[in-house]
Amino acid sequence: MLRTHNNGALRLSDVNKEVNLVGWVAKKRNLGSLVFIDLRDRYGITQLLCDESFNDITSQIKNEFIIKVVGVVKERHQYNNDLLTGEIEVEVNNIEIINSAELTPLIIADKTDALEDTRMEYRYLDLRRPIMQSNLMLRHKITKSVRNYLDSLDFIDIETPILTSSTPEGARDYVVPSRIHDQSFYALPQSPQLFKQLLMVAGFEKYYQIVKCFRDEDLRADRQTEFTQIDIETSFLEQDEIQSLIEKMFVKIMKETKNIDITIPFRKIPYDEAMNYYGSDKPDLRFDLKLIDITNNVKNSDFVVFKNTIMNNGVIKALILNNSADKYSRKKIDELQALAKKNHAQGLAWLKIEDNVISGPISKFFNDKQAQQFINELSLVNNDLVLIVADQWSVACNALGALRNELASQLDLINPDQYEFCWIVDWPLFEYDEEEQRYYAAHHPFTRPAINQEESFYTDPSTARAQAYDIVLNGYEIGGGSLRIYNQKMQEKMFEVLGFSKDDIEQQFGFFVNAFKYGTPPHGGIALGLDRITMLLTNSNSIRDVIAFPKNASATCPLTKAPKPISKSQLSELGIKFK
Ligand code: AMO
Ligand code: AMP
Repeated sequence: MLRTHNNGALRLSDVNKEVNLVGWVAKKRNLGSLVFIDLRDRYGITQLLCDESFNDITSQIKNEFIIKVVGVVKERHQYNNDLLTGEIEVEVNNIEIINSAELTPLIIADKTDALEDTRMEYRYLDLRRPIMQSNLMLRHKITKSVRNYLDSLDFIDIETPILTSSTPEGARDYVVPSRIHDQSFYALPQSPQLFKQLLMVAGFEKYYQIVKCFRDEDLRADRQTEFTQIDIETSFLEQDEIQSLIEKMFVKIMKETKNIDITIPFRKIPYDEAMNYYGSDKPDLRFDLKLIDITNNVKNSDFVVFKNTIMNNGVIKALILNNSADKYSRKKIDELQALAKKNHAQGLAWLKIEDNVISGPISKFFNDKQAQQFINELSLVNNDLVLIVADQWSVACNALGALRNELASQLDLINPDQYEFCWIVDWPLFEYDEEEQRYYAAHHPFTRPAINQEESFYTDPSTARAQAYDIVLNGYEIGGGSLRIYNQKMQEKMFEVLGFSKDDIEQQFGFFVNAFKYGTPPHGGIALGLDRITMLLTNSNSIRDVIAFPKNASATCPLTKAPKPISKSQLSELGIKFK
């Protein structure tokens, strides 16, 4: 028997038992003739005590060697409360080296200064770090909780193809050439959207899948090219019922993985309101700071930027930071201005309240009476700082929304142990692309228009609303879904608004639209981003810390070196020649 116990198991109640342990050497300390070894496996660390009779062998042992010991459990003189096994140690009677290890290119400890590419190149070592093990174990617990919950409600897990044709989720496709069919390609799914809808046509009613999706888009800390969705589709449910189903799922997940009780239902915030108050369609509700509209409060000032904005039907919006003016020097405000400009604002005006009057470069555009009125109307007091963006509504909202998040972290407004969920509802059905002068689906082209807009969306797409919903946690979009169109005529109209010709529709989606002829139930669903959820529940800074083998920021895998060239013979078999 290699082991009787794992390295997180032994307690005071095991004192005087003879045990066999096996694991990696995490640390070795020489204390005169005694040698202490921390033995590690995924369950924890057990301290071994080797006396001088083992000097020959302990002198050979280095970090990350795998050893097997036989010994007796003893109570420690001094408890170590950081370890599960901190009350005991094992006095070694026999020790055996099972495997040696070279000096590792990164330190196997929670804290690491290794470059991320080094961590990814030696991912099997990076994954030995206890924090990474606990991240992946939490991910497993989440999926287990999801499966149990959905299973208890009669959902069935059905796999859908990976080699398929394009699914329109708004990113570029990854494509795979066909050897058999000349000049033809499979596309990897951006989501199982079309298939899960066809499963509803097939009558399954309740489908789910924990599934890989592939999107060729620029990577960020919360984005991977290859990521995992908890994908769900249902028939015969209304929006509220689908949302309630998901809320109850999060009650289970939070309880079973973090032992946290959350309150449902979650807040439902219309899209326009989210933009208006939080400057974001994924607002972080852990802090209250809201954007306010001060157009009316500054309309009489002489500042030409404000005057022009009002003339062009724009708005003047602001964030008021109470008791913070002294924390913001000109230099720090310039940094905020740079962030506002990065988010497409023309500039960032500001006012401080000092000695009961307004100060700052634009204060000269207010006469005394206007200044006093401004202070009174906005209930400002000394040491308040007002940050102002004048622009078209959406630009002003977005720029201040970006500042809102940055300020929350600068001013320490966020409690990292808090979890604030909400739904964003009443989305626009379309987004207009000024450059290409065409409409795009805001969610995807299968989303049902709002109840009273099932006809008018076609003639007036600009005001059409969708029966779509996003779920947001702590400022991250962790899921999105919608009720779907289930009527062939409406689906065809939708494609038309999006600029698809009859031929395009037939070519790309003929199989899908055709299915609608044969009795399609009203249906709808959602997909949740498993990686993002895990990132948030593990307090990780990057999605890459909760994926076993992720891609780096330039979409390559430092471990396998993918993507890489393939051989000439493979290319010729595929009929591919490079220019
Ligand atoms: P959507 O495109 O909103 O919806 O995706 C659903 C959720 O998946 C996560 N996600 C990602 N996570 C990591 N990296 C990425 N590149 C990435 N892209 C998306 C997000 C997002 O909220 N078929 C629809 C769902 C539906 O209508 O049922 C869809 O895919 O958390
Ligand atoms: P200017 O006269 O352009 O140098 O601008 C004076 C101040 O107004 C600077 O602090 C600018 O950042 C700010 N400002 C310029 N445009 C805007 C705008 N659209 N919204 C808010 N502040 C602005």
